[in-house]
Amino acid sequence: MQYSQKVLDHFMKPHNIGKIENPDAEATEGSPACGDQVSIYLKVNDKTQVIEDIKFQSYGCASNIATASIITDMVMGRTLDEAKKVTWKEAADALDGLPPVKMHCSVLAVDTLRKAIKDYEIKHGLAEKETFGKNTIVEELKKVIYPKVGEDIVTLKMVKYVGFENGIATVDVDIPKFDEHRDNVVEEIKEHLEQIKEIKKIKITI
Ligand code: FES
Repeated sequence: MQYSQKVLDHFMKPHNIGKIENPDAEATEGSPACGDQVSIYLKVNDKTQVIEDIKFQSYGCASNIATASIITDMVMGRTLDEAKKVTWKEAADALDGLPPVKMHCSVLAVDTLRKAIKDYEIKHGLAEKETFGKNTIVEELKKVIYPKVGEDIVTLKMVKYVGFENGIATVDVDIPKFDEHRDNVVEEIKEHLEQIKEIKKIKITI
């Protein structure tokens, strides 16, 4: 697997690593794809909503450590609104790319950052806890990466239908029958949706 020099630099000497004591906001997320975990801590200026400090701890792989490191650089000194617009693709691009099978590591880092921002917003009455709906499922499916090309299955239009009724989530996906990643993608969809407490049963049609 070929890593860029930037990935290696951030992996060997990660920026902003560690924990902030008494942070204004924090989040810990796990990747359903690999089981690895990342925590992000924020110090935010109450008046300007500028991120004054950010630190992370990662129990993930080199790609995850590198992505978490670079996003802390990208959002330090930025407002929360600016920070939440950073995408996992921008993070991967800032590292001069990641191997397609490692894109989910970038998704994990950016998702954790967004959860930490959300934590701040909820604590400060700037946002409400999200109410569950079909859109929650679609948003979760955007974190499932098709490893052959390193893009999410919603953007790739592989998701043909999403439904939710009586606790049952229904997802129709279009993956060619002999695709080597078919089983992995289906398994990953299940693992993502199993984390949502409102979903009692998952039906996936391929
Ligand atoms: Fe788990 Fe990269 S393989 S975060």
